[in-house]
Amino acid sequence: MRLRIAVLTGAGISAESGIPTFRGAGGLWERYKLEELASPEAFRRDPKLVWEWYDYRRLKIKEAEPNRGHRLLASMEEEFPNFTLITQNVDGLHQRAGSKRVIELHGNIWKLRCTRCTYEDFNYEAPLKVLPPACPSCGGLLRPGVVWFGESLPIDALEEAYRAAKASDVFLVVGTSGMVYPAAQLPIEAKERGAYLIEVNPEETPLSPYMDTCIREKASVGVEKALELIRSHLQRA
Ligand code: APR
Repeated sequence: MRLRIAVLTGAGISAESGIPTFRGAGGLWERYKLEELASPEAFRRDPKLVWEWYDYRRLKIKEAEPNRGHRLLASMEEEFPNFTLITQNVDGLHQRAGSKRVIELHGNIWKLRCTRCTYEDFNYEAPLKVLPPACPSCGGLLRPGVVWFGESLPIDALEEAYRAAKASDVFLVVGTSGMVYPAAQLPIEAKERGAYLIEVNPEETPLSPYMDTCIREKASVGVEKALELIRSHLQRA
């Protein structure tokens, strides 16, 4: 039986790479005000401050390595023909771990986009020489290619993620607090269509009550346990 697997990851899968999560102990929103750094208003008010924060995050991510959790998900893409990886993360670590198809719901921190013309491209320079960076084609202000609070998600990515969730037999949720919509709606959609839900998270989340199995482990351990569960699911089918 061809098992259709969908996975949603959040900041928790990058925690063991040394990238701080947003919420919970030591989270970024504990130290920074998200409305001052991750919103269109903040960027309009002080683009240099916002860029200093993104430049700092890009440098931390560049110095980080994908961890076992990222690599296991990349290997699952090889093992299961019908496998879809959806992430809320903007760090690009799934791709660096070898995942070929990654649906990025909240954009990518390595993509820069012009606020004036249609210029958009990847730029892996960290730290950036000039903050805020200027558009190479029109000289306008470049912004990070990420989705800020109050902005809509890339519609193609969201539609593809919903399709995968609704068609999935197994939906695996790794390292997300399940607080931010519409991403958090995906496992619920899958559940309503009969998918088997697995959560990998050391802590309980608002999504935990929907889960068929909760694996209270860090991603590097929990994803392997989820993989074993899925393989045994296959044997029984
Ligand atoms: N392995 C697995 N999960 C972990 C680990 C780990 N090693 N460490 C922490 N976690 C869990 C935490 O328990 C928490 O539930 O990861 C989750 C991280 O939650 P958040 O920091 O809220 O990150 P996320 O759910 O991805 O946030 C969603 O909110 O700030 C916005 O756009 C941002 O994409 C982000 C979105």
